[in-house]
Amino acid sequence: MSFKALPKVELHTHIEGAAPPDFIRGLAKEKNVDLSGIFAADGGYAYRDFWHFLEVYEAATSVLNSPQDYARLTRAVLENCAEAGVVYVETFISPDFCGGRDVSAWRDYLAAIQDAAAEAERDAGITLRGIVTAVRHFGPDAAREVARCAQQTAGGFITGYGMGGDEKSGKQGDFAYAFDMAREAGLKLTTHAGEWNGPDEVRAALDDLRVERIGHGVRAIEDPALVDRLVQDGITLEVCPGSNVFLGVYPDLAAHPIARLRDRGVKVTVSTDDPPFFRTDMVKEYEDLSRQFGWDAADFKALNLTAIEAAFCDDATRERVRKIVEAQDV
Ligand code: HPA
Ligand code: ZN
Repeated sequence: MSFKALPKVELHTHIEGAAPPDFIRGLAKEKNVDLSGIFAADGGYAYRDFWHFLEVYEAATSVLNSPQDYARLTRAVLENCAEAGVVYVETFISPDFCGGRDVSAWRDYLAAIQDAAAEAERDAGITLRGIVTAVRHFGPDAAREVARCAQQTAGGFITGYGMGGDEKSGKQGDFAYAFDMAREAGLKLTTHAGEWNGPDEVRAALDDLRVERIGHGVRAIEDPALVDRLVQDGITLEVCPGSNVFLGVYPDLAAHPIARLRDRGVKVTVSTDDPPFFRTDMVKEYEDLSRQFGWDAADFKALNLTAIEAAFCDDATRERVRKIVEAQDV
C-alpha cells in the first residue's frame, strides 16, 4: 500500500537540515558563494560521517543569512512535508544561525518563518511549530543566549527548547542553566541524547535537564532499567530510523531498536531529522518500517496518535490535529 495519504505527525526535524539541496545551491549561486564541495555528483549533499555532516550542515546554512532566506526555506520545507502527507511538524530553529543570537534579529527571522508557515497552513493545511535549539558544540554560554532568545519569544509558535549538535561535546548537565531558563519561560524541553553516546547520556538528559522528550534516545535499549524508566515516566522518543541507519548508528534497519522499544512499551514516534541529508522522507520511513517490521496503517495511526499526544503545541491545536489522525481509515 502507499503510505503517502496517511496523515502524519513529525516531531523531529531541523529546519536547515530539511533544506532541499537545489534550494541551497540556488541561494549559493545568487550570493556568489562557492559551495560545490558539499555536493555529490548526483546533486545531493556529500559528507563522510556524522561529524563531517555537522560541518557540511553549517556550510549549507552559511548562505541562509536573512529573514527572507528563512521565509523561502520554510516554504520549500513545508511543501515537501505536505507532499509526504505530514499534517503537523515541529522543527528545530537555532538563533545561532538566525541573527547570531541577537534577540532583536532573532525576532525578525522568526516573524519571517511564521509568516511563511501561516501561508503554508492556508495553502497546504500543514501546521508548523518551532523549537528553539541550542547547538551543543557551541557551548553552554551560547546555549544561555539561545535560551534568552527563546524566553523572549516563547508561546504560540515557539513551543519548546532543545539541543542538537555534537553529542560528544561537553555534558548534558553543562546546559542545565539554559534549560532551566527555558522551563521557567513555559517551554517544553527535549534534547538529542543516546544517538552517539549510550544510556548514560539519556539518563543525564532526564536527571540534569528534566526533558519530557528525547531526540533519538535509541541507545537506551542497551540498559533494561533505563527502558523501564522511560516507560514509567512516559518519556517520548523522537526516533529517526533512516537518519540512524544512514549515519551508521546501526548497520541496517533490521538492527535498529525502534520495534523492540515499542514492544517494551516505550512511546516511540517516527521522524526524518534532516531528510535530504539522509536521502529520506516520511513516506520512505513508513515504507521501510513496514517492510522490515510488518507495520501497517493501523500501527502508523497509533504511532501518530502517540506523536500528537507528545507534541509541544497548545491543546486546541493538538485536538484539531488529533481529529485529522483519528479520521484515518485503517
Ligand atoms: N543530529 C544532531 N545535531 C544536528 C542534527 C542531527 O541530526 N542536524 C542538525 N544538527
Ligand atoms: Zn536531530
